Amino acid sequence: MSSIHLRTSIPGPNSQELMRRRNAAVARGVYHATPIFVARAEGAMVEDVDGNRYIDFAGGIGCLNVGHRAPRVMTAIRGQIEAFLHTCFSVAPYGKYVELAEKMNSLTPGTFPKKTILVNSGAEAVENAVKIARCYTRRPAVICFEDAFHGRTMLTMSLTSKTHPYKAGFEPFAGDIYRVPYAYCYRCSYSLKYPECGVFCAHHLEDAFKRLVAAEAVAAVVVEPVLGEGGFVAPPREFFTVLQEICRRHQILLIADEVQTGFGRTGAMFACERYGLVPDILVAAKSIAGGLPLAAVTGRAEIMDAPGVGGLGGTFGGNPVSCAAGLAAIETLERENLSSRAEKLGQQFDARAREWQRHFVLIGEVRGLGAMRAIELVRSHETREPAKEETEQVLRYCHEHGLILISAGSYGNVLRVLVPLAVTDEQFEEGLDIVEAGLTSVATSHVEAAPGRV
Ligand SMILES: Cc1ncc(COP(=O)(O)O)c(C=O)c1O
Repeated sequence: MSSIHLRTSIPGPNSQELMRRRNAAVARGVYHATPIFVARAEGAMVEDVDGNRYIDFAGGIGCLNVGHRAPRVMTAIRGQIEAFLHTCFSVAPYGKYVELAEKMNSLTPGTFPKKTILVNSGAEAVENAVKIARCYTRRPAVICFEDAFHGRTMLTMSLTSKTHPYKAGFEPFAGDIYRVPYAYCYRCSYSLKYPECGVFCAHHLEDAFKRLVAAEAVAAVVVEPVLGEGGFVAPPREFFTVLQEICRRHQILLIADEVQTGFGRTGAMFACERYGLVPDILVAAKSIAGGLPLAAVTGRAEIMDAPGVGGLGGTFGGNPVSCAAGLAAIETLERENLSSRAEKLGQQFDARAREWQRHFVLIGEVRGLGAMRAIELVRSHETREPAKEETEQVLRYCHEHGLILISAGSYGNVLRVLVPLAVTDEQFEEGLDIVEAGLTSVATSHVEAAPGRV
């Protein structure tokens, strides 16, 4: 293991001063995972306003698969700002929006004709996907899952599962939304065990049509192929096979929320490909534009064309600078084969994390898909009591030792990796060394560790 140094003082004086001003000027509800303010970033590295450097394992919550300031993205942005910044696609359209829509139609799973709309954020894209599904099917209800996260707007907050801090106090929620268990095998809602369970959770959707909501009232099932904020749970393949089959049988649209899983993160351009899942509508955002705000809804052409003229859109949706960045980010992902890179990074993480698991009682499960990887921390393997405090201690250790790392999970006890795929092998290994040192320090001081050390 390389020697790991505590940064002189985190947060430094400049970050502290900005935090004081932030506390006076910005509402407290806007959360920070780290106490530092950023001055610049490049590739997989971030520098704060006090000159401290960090390896970035969060990538702005999965928005930087191509890395900070990816060269093609920067060139495309510079080119576009020299031409024009905004006209509104609904006032005077421009080619880059169309080009990006064409790209999304060709990249997403399914060989049928597709169409796309561009919006500003993941939540806005999920909202539009539901709007379109309701308009096409003329049905009201939406089925979503336990531990799902789909955003913070009224509809997407209602689709989101975790109560604190996302929902509590913001009631009432949107109607006609029904929640069923996801294939979170480590914490199975039915206390069953995979594979003997035969993915009971997926089959049980049929039961929901009898006890929860009639199938003929359901417009769509909205599902993340791998849970994002819910803790990087990657279900068994059959879960999606069964889900897809049930949806088709009842003419219910399947909406895949690939906001966090998209653009190479899971070892394929979209996680649906890893599962052989062909959704009717796919929602993408985050890494689509290399760090600029942009999101897309792509689906079967006849579904996407259900809303009438003027029924979809928005002032800034598909902003030309974001579209230029999006085209360049996708070109970078393709040319640099970043999906393969994701798979390799995932394997490296997995090997190290399984080694940790052998030494630390703290690690309940190691999981994920491609470079969307996580460890779930528990106080005991028997009770699986979530180790939230210990998770926070590991995070604090990482921040103080030069690694930006964030958590996830309904119990706040999952450490997740969303490192830019542009990370170098050295940076990645150094980041993992810091996580390991953090686990060691917390495991030895708070939780009984198994004999021996990594
Ligand atoms: C799966 C998923 N859907 C939707 C969203 C909401 O995206 P945004 O924050 O861009 O509105 C997120 C954000 O983390 C997400 O992970």
